[in-house]
Amino acid sequence: MTKKIRQPIIAVLGHVDHGKTTLLDRIRRTKVAAKEAGGITQHIGATEVPIETVRTLAGPLIKLWKGEIKLPGLLFIDTPGHEAFTSLRARGGSLADLAVLIVDINEGFQPQTIESIEILRKNRTPFIVAANKIDRIKGWKVEEDEPFLVNIKKQDPRAQQELETKLWELIGKFYEMGFQANRFDRVQNFTRELAIVPISAKYGIGVPELLVLIAGLSQKYLEEQLKIEVEGPARGTILEVREELGLGTTIDVIVYDGTLRKDDTIVVGGKDKAIVTKIRALLKPKPLDEIRDPRFRFDQVDEVVAAAGIKIAAPGLEEALAGSPVIAARSEEEIEKAKEEILSQ
Ligand code: GTP
Ligand code: MG
Ligand code: NA
Repeated sequence: MTKKIRQPIIAVLGHVDHGKTTLLDRIRRTKVAAKEAGGITQHIGATEVPIETVRTLAGPLIKLWKGEIKLPGLLFIDTPGHEAFTSLRARGGSLADLAVLIVDINEGFQPQTIESIEILRKNRTPFIVAANKIDRIKGWKVEEDEPFLVNIKKQDPRAQQELETKLWELIGKFYEMGFQANRFDRVQNFTRELAIVPISAKYGIGVPELLVLIAGLSQKYLEEQLKIEVEGPARGTILEVREELGLGTTIDVIVYDGTLRKDDTIVVGGKDKAIVTKIRALLKPKPLDEIRDPRFRFDQVDEVVAAAGIKIAAPGLEEALAGSPVIAARSEEEIEKAKEEILSQ
């Protein structure tokens, strides 16, 4: 039997208020953005989007991707765009197999747009550009959830021209930074050219094409890098350390490799030390739920396979440090190796 490709991690990056959380809300049918204090994202979020949801939202467009989509789903990571959160953006960017860079097409490149590109370049993370808020172009006709290539045909020539002008401005900015970019349907080679998908996150326009490209390209990159599901012990990164009523101190973790089991010992990075502890509970958010702000209760699970967002309850996590590694270990030898690795960082 051929090994399954692991679920890809898709980070959403971009300048503050350019629409990252709104895009995920549109995909999840949630309203996380509206509930954030001051409308500002202050943490890294994680959401699993099952492939059936991608298929439903993409509709017949999924056939545009030549070749079968074999992924079980997509693990999206939402990052903050506010300038204060450079380290959270860097963490999200470094975990990602593929990123979506969101640019408000009416504002164009802004400081954290450039910073996000630098993070992605440094990590050699492939990315797709979502040129957001096209519905704000004067006279734009909104049709909810419509593919961009259908929606664009309904626009007046003047609105179409306005979009073209703004797209060319973006393409010029990317060129200045050393990238060859183009509207996605004019891209000949996705490995060499950056694809720009015009979208309205608020109304879902262009989201079908964006999802097809995210699924297709992430699968292609994972296959090329032979990132398949592995049986080995898990490796992850702590997003947040949180007190939970009835659970004590927990850690929200992105597992990016291997399998995490309920009876695993984990070695976790803390302040100047490595914490060795036994897992008490593995808590998984429901699909399409946000780990920071779940609508439903978590499911207790016995095992998770990368990539996944998971809350771990275990004794002694009070001194765990956000951004540190989590390594599962199944023998004394593995525990020692993990401790060494964490302390040497
Ligand atoms: P941070 O996480 O704080 O960096 O912001 P963000 O990138 O997650 O942006 P957010 O989703 O919070 O959206 C910012 C504002 O832009 C909100 O008022 C959204 O309703 C609005 N917005 C987002 N996408 C669109 C869009 O496609 N069209 C319009 N008209 N407004 C949008
Ligand atoms: Mg946000
Ligand atoms: Na915001």
